[in-house]
Amino acid sequence: MSVSWEVVPSVAEAFASVLVEELTTRTGHGRLYPLFLSGGPTARLAYQALADVTAASGPVWPQVEIYWGDERCVPRDDPDSNYRLAREALLDRIGETGPVHPMYDAGPPEQAAGAYRQLLTGLPTLGIVHLGLGPDGHCASLFPGSAGAAITDPGCLVVANTDPHGVNPLPRLTLTLPAIARADLVVFTVSGASKRDALARVRAGDDLPATHVTATRVRWLVDEAALPRSGAS
Ligand code: 6PG
Repeated sequence: MSVSWEVVPSVAEAFASVLVEELTTRTGHGRLYPLFLSGGPTARLAYQALADVTAASGPVWPQVEIYWGDERCVPRDDPDSNYRLAREALLDRIGETGPVHPMYDAGPPEQAAGAYRQLLTGLPTLGIVHLGLGPDGHCASLFPGSAGAAITDPGCLVVANTDPHGVNPLPRLTLTLPAIARADLVVFTVSGASKRDALARVRAGDDLPATHVTATRVRWLVDEAALPRSGAS
């Protein structure tokens, strides 16, 4: 695994240029390439920036198959839906893509997790997985102390999960750590002072879900505000 830390003026703009570069390199080999999307306000800005640069720098999108790394168990048109966020910020603005695979629409979360697990089984790679970092150190919907974050079975790619501390609302579906480990590339986006403690703890190797993320390559895109203040540890 190779891990890089990149301090950037704008996480959203850095995300957009990294994605264009990485998708351009990884597509065009005659097969669809998977991209797993995220949720949250940083993701929204990142996807808007990606849609903006896509207009200028050409289409790889028909060769990119769209998945989600986590989802809130709400209908797809709900304001809390990560699918809706990605539609509004990115998918409705970039024209044709490869197949789009929403993670959830209705029904029991465990059933939806099973269906998505089935969908991912057999993918030779999970391609690029985009992750954010919560102030509590969660990523995807892998919350500290949750059952989903403790899964180590490499065959268990997707689970239903909840936050045992009740900080992050709604039942969720999420990739597991062993699933994320099958990605070629994880891109973390971390922006703002509210992430400062979590980021410092991840960098110190504390036991948080985001600390345990592995993949062939992991790129952390972070802004100055998320870094420890000078003089602080
Ligand atoms: C979600 C996410 C979640 C998110 C973090 C950080 O559905 O909420 O996928 O893991 O990435 O909460 O979000 P921000 O980076 O936007 O603060």
